[in-house]
Amino acid sequence: MSQVTAIKQSNITDTEFLNDVLNGLTQEQKTLPCKYFYDDKGAALFEQITTLQEYYVTRTELSILEQYSQAIAQLLPDNLSIIEPGCGSGKKVAYLLAHMANVKTFVPFEISQEMLSYSLAHLSPLFPELVISPLLGDFTHSQMVKQLTKDTALDSQTNLVYFPGSTLGNFSPVKAIEIMSNFHRLCGVNGYVLIGIDLVKERQVLLDAYDDKAGVTAAFNKNLLGRINNELNANFDLTTFSHQSRFNEVHSKIEMHLISLCDQSVIIDNQQIHFDKGESIHTENSHKYTVESFAALAGQAGLKLENTWQDANDYFALCLLRPA
Ligand code: AVJ
Repeated sequence: MSQVTAIKQSNITDTEFLNDVLNGLTQEQKTLPCKYFYDDKGAALFEQITTLQEYYVTRTELSILEQYSQAIAQLLPDNLSIIEPGCGSGKKVAYLLAHMANVKTFVPFEISQEMLSYSLAHLSPLFPELVISPLLGDFTHSQMVKQLTKDTALDSQTNLVYFPGSTLGNFSPVKAIEIMSNFHRLCGVNGYVLIGIDLVKERQVLLDAYDDKAGVTAAFNKNLLGRINNELNANFDLTTFSHQSRFNEVHSKIEMHLISLCDQSVIIDNQQIHFDKGESIHTENSHKYTVESFAALAGQAGLKLENTWQDANDYFALCLLRPA
């Protein structure tokens, strides 16, 4: 068996979820942070989304990994540590690990204990020699990333920060630059950052990917309200909201919304929130980039685009970056 070190954990506060929800639902345009989609049920629904015909994202990225992992690995030095923020099931790093010699440590970095355990169980039998040092925490918190990397001495090594899955697209350009700046610091002066991005494509393909016929994405979106009911003592009636996907041309992003089907009030932790009929809660952004727009964004985080690997349709790109 591979060597798994103890899970290092940052302080996740219980009140953060409630504060984020109440703050988001008292804005003019109501919003909820998409990071809360992934409770156990949400994570399972997302896994189901990745198998849908309409959702090209995951299978396209996996096909790029299948085809080019070896080529990518050949560009990387021995004795790297690989850090994967938001590693999920740990499936995608396996493609790289299969072609990399002498990886020093693999550091899965996850907000969900469940997913972290799952990735450990999945990876350790596949890579018996590998040292795995899990981190439990929220990689979007810059302060936390700094502290954890200091505590684990990762900040004094050469690392590969691996961020597949187009997760970056969930963040505003300003936040994406902040996150990539953290990756820049985390990888070290001689390090590498490998990021998966979803590319701009035909509008209908994008809309369908976020509004599938079977309604799995709708269930995933509504589960956010279910989670609020379960964890924050709220009384959302999920049947009174409908799922909607929109493409925002100006900002080149897919938006997911939940639309209230009637005038109604909901109680969350003793606070009453009113919804007009037709009013939306904006629950997710998923930015779609061109290689050029992404290179410009990464440039603002001090990272230079060195290489990209794309599928035959140019639906998705894996981008290798280095400190400029
Ligand atoms: C996990 C962020 C890549 O934006 O495509 C899938 C999440 N939302 N369907 C995406 C998601 C709706 C997904 N990422």
